[in-house]
Amino acid sequence: MVQIKSKREIDLMRQAGKLVAKVLMQLTEKAKPGVTLEELDRLAEELTLSYGAKPAFKGYIGYKHTLCTSVNEQVVHGIPSKRELKDGDIIGLDFGLVYNGFYGDSAVTVSVGENISDRAMKLMQVTKDSLYAAIDASRAGNTLKDIAKAIEATVTPHGYGIVREFVGHGIGMKLHEDPQIPNYEAGASGFKLKPGMTIAIEPMINEGTHQVKVLSDKWTAVTADSKLSAHYEHTLCITDGEPEILTSWDDAFQNTFQSLTSFSDWKKGAYGERGLNPSGGNGR
Ligand code: CO
Repeated sequence: MVQIKSKREIDLMRQAGKLVAKVLMQLTEKAKPGVTLEELDRLAEELTLSYGAKPAFKGYIGYKHTLCTSVNEQVVHGIPSKRELKDGDIIGLDFGLVYNGFYGDSAVTVSVGENISDRAMKLMQVTKDSLYAAIDASRAGNTLKDIAKAIEATVTPHGYGIVREFVGHGIGMKLHEDPQIPNYEAGASGFKLKPGMTIAIEPMINEGTHQVKVLSDKWTAVTADSKLSAHYEHTLCITDGEPEILTSWDDAFQNTFQSLTSFSDWKKGAYGERGLNPSGGNGR
């Protein structure tokens, strides 16, 4: 059953979403060469608790960590370890929390260090673009097929593979609610979106084949051909007009880095020319 959230529930999800953005933003700053995946996980947990929230993933179907850290050919659900990030890596940071009973869930893929290949940059950009295309399609009256079509239209011209095994999802009082939201058209239904639905959209896009396999740790999904993969995710609310991105970084910025003058200055400082963060080019 797909729930319609009340105004009050959406406001609580807005609060949870802002905290998710705040944590992810700070994790992104720390994702530098030499930092271990465990250190990022510990920081994620500390920040979450310091905001009075709880990690959403820890304890979820046996997952033991706060963060998923998926490096290079890892697609999703990479387990934080003592592995150190290296210059030239790309890392997917997938994070969720629960605050006053409501969940937020979001992911970004960011580059580590200075020497990022053009291939990696392009894959990240196209994957992020596909998330924003999907968000634009998330309007009352549109269907889950429209979301998947928007993703497909963005990525297939580049010859990339869309992962099928993992999907987006409804979200609210639980991390995963109905409906499931596939990122490829053939997998998506004609289910219609209505105002008040809260969903998490999360395209996982591979440089090569769409096929993935799961490592013996039972969690880490990797590309079948060992080529790169990228993942972006936002939690959003369907409205009468434009969808509202509940995990947007723009508001989170203001109370996280008060000493900086603007979000765009922060982006420049944090990313230089690399400029890849989960906000779209249109100020979201
Ligand atoms: Co999710």
